[in-house]
Amino acid sequence: METRALETFAQEYKQLLEDELRRLVEKLKAPPIIKESMIYSLEAGGKRIRPLLLFATLDAFGMNPKKGLLAAAAIEMIHTYSLIHDDLPSMDNDDLRRGKPTNHKVFGDAIAILAGDALLTYSFEVISQLPTDVFSADTKLKLVIEMAKAAGTEGMVGGQVADMEGEAKSLTLQELEYIHIHKTGKLLGFSVLAGGIMAGANQEQLHNLSGFAHHLGLAFQIQDDILDLVGNEEIIGKPVGSDTTNLKSTYPQLLTLEGARTALEDQITSAKENLERTGLNTQLLSEITDLVASRDH
Ligand code: IPE
Ligand code: IPE
Ligand code: MG
Ligand code: MG
Ligand code: MG
Repeated sequence: METRALETFAQEYKQLLEDELRRLVEKLKAPPIIKESMIYSLEAGGKRIRPLLLFATLDAFGMNPKKGLLAAAAIEMIHTYSLIHDDLPSMDNDDLRRGKPTNHKVFGDAIAILAGDALLTYSFEVISQLPTDVFSADTKLKLVIEMAKAAGTEGMVGGQVADMEGEAKSLTLQELEYIHIHKTGKLLGFSVLAGGIMAGANQEQLHNLSGFAHHLGLAFQIQDDILDLVGNEEIIGKPVGSDTTNLKSTYPQLLTLEGARTALEDQITSAKENLERTGLNTQLLSEITDLVASRDH
């Protein structure tokens, strides 16, 4: 099987994704301001790690990643909505995101809230439009259900609520893990799971893929917490020290910076062990895992 380095792969698929996101929003018939606000945040230039996870998972099964383009766009829309709302004054109250002023700073709170609503609802319409000649109605329904679970009350929203409720309290490691697994892990996990569902993975493969995603999600948020403490604002594109200002419990705060780094390494090791057990061609997924551990933004 052909093996490709992540860099070339990422370049090609990020471009495809970004073109698709713009096309999807531009064709909407709506007041220009809402489309402008949606495009502003979608195009602010995130790392696109979730779409890349989906594409790399399809690649691991030997399936053409392009078949997953609409699902990848849907996931990035949900992620972007979550960031717009996360930055609002009533949540983390941050002014900088992806190196640019946050959505509400440019468009005001009302339009920022509505842009989030618009992206969330549109994501479900978009994933429902996956090509019917490639994916059965049953597969598409499974994807819709899993995406709803990952984004919803038992997923990301639950994690965000626990994160808010945990402010100014000292949490146990277990409580902090709940937050990380839900606010970040569930959507990252869905990116991998969606690839598995689309490629027709068997139960054992799905089990190992979700184990991989669980550990990767934890690693991802531990590094996010570390970067909030020691990152460079210009590189990271969002304010450093936001967690400290908002009295958030974080891995470094609970375990010290060194302890958080060790926890991160442990999660990366476990993620890779799960990946190997899938028996798939997981070179790209493995490279993404290394990137999560070493990323500076
Ligand atoms: C930031 O996610 C929010 C978290 C869930 C930690 P990313 O670090 O993936 O943000 P972008 O998309 O690259 O801006
Ligand atoms: C938010 O976590 C995760 C979601 C948006 C669901 P954070 O609040 O730590 O994310 P950043 O650091 O602002 O990107
Ligand atoms: Mg937050
Ligand atoms: Mg935040
Ligand atoms: Mg953070």
